[in-house]
Amino acid sequence: MQGSWDNPIIAGSDMQLEIPVAKPVPYIDFDGRRRLFHLRGQASSYLMSVSPYGDLHQLHWGCKLEAPDVAAVHRAWAGTVRNLHLETHRREYASFGSNDLRLPALHLEHGDGSRLSAFDYQGHEVLPGKPALVNDGLPGTTAEHPEDASTLRLLFKDYHSGHLLDLYYTIYPKLDVVVRRALLKQGPQAGAVKRLMSASLDFPAGDWHALSLPGDWARERMIEQSRLNQGAHRLESRRGTSSHGMSPFAVITKGKADEDRGEAFGISLIYSGNWLIEAEKHMSGRLRVNAGLNDFDFQWRLEPGATFASPECALAYSSKGLGGLSRKLHAMVRRHILRGPWRERERPILVNSWEAHYFKFKHDDIVKLAGQAKDIGADMVVLDDGWFGSRDSDNSSLGDWYDDLSKLPKGVKGLAAEVKAMGLKFGLWFEPEAVSPNSELYRKHPDWALAVPGRRPSTSRNQYVLDLGRPEVRDFLFSRLAHYVEDAGLDYIKWDMNRPLWEVGSPSLPAERQAELSHRYVLGLYELMGRLRDRFPELLVEGCSGGGGRFDWGMLCYHPQFWTSDNTDGLDRIYIQYGSSLFLPALTQTAHISEVPNHQTHRNIPITFRSLVALSGNLGLEINLAKTRAGEKREIKGWMEYYRKVRHLVNQGDFHRMESPYEGPRAAWCFVSRDKREVLAFAFQPRTPFRGQEPLPVRFKGLDPDEIYKLEGATQSYSGAFLMTQGLIPAFGPGDFQAQHWRLAAR
Ligand code: DGJ
Repeated sequence: MQGSWDNPIIAGSDMQLEIPVAKPVPYIDFDGRRRLFHLRGQASSYLMSVSPYGDLHQLHWGCKLEAPDVAAVHRAWAGTVRNLHLETHRREYASFGSNDLRLPALHLEHGDGSRLSAFDYQGHEVLPGKPALVNDGLPGTTAEHPEDASTLRLLFKDYHSGHLLDLYYTIYPKLDVVVRRALLKQGPQAGAVKRLMSASLDFPAGDWHALSLPGDWARERMIEQSRLNQGAHRLESRRGTSSHGMSPFAVITKGKADEDRGEAFGISLIYSGNWLIEAEKHMSGRLRVNAGLNDFDFQWRLEPGATFASPECALAYSSKGLGGLSRKLHAMVRRHILRGPWRERERPILVNSWEAHYFKFKHDDIVKLAGQAKDIGADMVVLDDGWFGSRDSDNSSLGDWYDDLSKLPKGVKGLAAEVKAMGLKFGLWFEPEAVSPNSELYRKHPDWALAVPGRRPSTSRNQYVLDLGRPEVRDFLFSRLAHYVEDAGLDYIKWDMNRPLWEVGSPSLPAERQAELSHRYVLGLYELMGRLRDRFPELLVEGCSGGGGRFDWGMLCYHPQFWTSDNTDGLDRIYIQYGSSLFLPALTQTAHISEVPNHQTHRNIPITFRSLVALSGNLGLEINLAKTRAGEKREIKGWMEYYRKVRHLVNQGDFHRMESPYEGPRAAWCFVSRDKREVLAFAFQPRTPFRGQEPLPVRFKGLDPDEIYKLEGATQSYSGAFLMTQGLIPAFGPGDFQAQHWRLAAR
């Protein structure tokens, strides 16, 4: 069905879905005459309109528009929309199938072999808050209070196949965030989804740049920025997990991004598997950006009437540069991604056994580590890899989640009881998704590992990946995890995952569904983690994937904190934590003080520097305290006491990046309380500057210029204006790896 200006498509016509009469809800305006939707954020507007031909167009996403601006934007658009060449339009969610050959948001294969679709607007509804949508097994943002958010649901129909498409937009007005997703309902004939993106954006012609977070194991989330020249550009993971190689996040900026000024458009996918954020600079200069599930090696078969949902994607706008954008994203994570009792609770300071003992430990070693953890003031001991099966190296036993009695004669239960008797909490490492070829589990159920029959399977770190698409595999894993939580009274689990997914195949699926498996794996993972979270809400689960290899907003819906990187070197961590801060608050990034020479880089960094880097995140220790010198131990103890005094700022304060290690010889950042009365700032200088160079001040950010702030442990006070314009000169000593912190409070 096609409409025109004189004969527009009428909302609600020809629909198979019930559309209730739309009641007005806050933050979403619908102008029926102009068929215009306006999502109103505190400082942003998202504007769409239905064309006379039933196609939905994106008129504006960016600064807040007032009524005359909306009218002007609509007028300008109405003048151009009569052109029937769709490639000249800024479309909201383009399907493949007509005279627009830019990368589409939607690509289907129909029962007759055709891949063409054209979805026409049918109607809409506006809903308060974020109603539970479909039971699709995907994680998403929360909106506990109706005033937090409003949701717009737009309905479309493909005039030929009869497929229905719903686009959902949930606006969080205070944060200028719109969370988008798409839901497809198959028409009367079976077919397949080749791509169904979560969000699609059509920006007008301009000098657009992209900021991305590429990396590798032990080098995660390194900031990279580049101009988007004509052609297609892909940021993605094809590794089955969101991956060390690239984080499912990007920022589109007008011109090169500035920390404090300019327009920044953030895109964060709430998904932990193969993802794609692609940008296509068209020959006209316009920019299309699509974000969602990766279409690489993917296809999902739909029987008549079946549905398929995209993951959610959060879109955030700031006119205050990257810094402003990050603060909105951090608030979004703290308020609408994290959930359950651990959302706001202070996290225990833990001592982890990995770098202290690796696979080589006995019951008494861990008891000794616990005694030292207690002395130094930690809250919890975590027993890392090596406690199960007969695992003395990474060559065996994954899947055999049973006590290794040769190391732990009293079992995990007996060890946990001893540790807890000291007044500490106790946590345990698992890598539930993996199986070693040399394990009882693999010998018993070789078909539980992902593999393609007849093809040689590859190992990585001597292990395979279990097929989490299979309910019996998930049931087995849940029963082993639940056993230890209940039997040993675990307070915490470290959930590791150490390899990509290769040779993705399963005998449990028919041939025509094999290309669904990577996504089914992720859905299975979410189901398993969700089951654990719901059964044991008090259990703290820390995500880990060889460090930060699956650190995304999807995982944060289940695991409120993540092991940021296996690289604990103080210098490298500055880059990693700085890059991560683009879209992840410090509360979610665990950071451990480790020993020197550092186990990954062999660098010797002084304890103050190492400690202050770790204090800037969710603090823990990765160190054999029995080998630590007394002076160093005293200093660590002091920092741990200090952390308890200031961690409310690290956890809940607004984060400001003051100096970038990517752009200069130093790094500096600060945490400012929401009422701007307290500030905790850090500065790091890894390398001594040349002699005779005048030291530069660190200029603070985010303070109240009229407030007077007193420096902790000193008599000096400064105005906020002074701190932000003149700044403070760090009292760095001689030599490399100097670090300093300042804590100030309004008088
Ligand atoms: C990788 C993790 O990132 C490390 O912290 C440690 O848990 C090892 N796996 C154990 O095998």
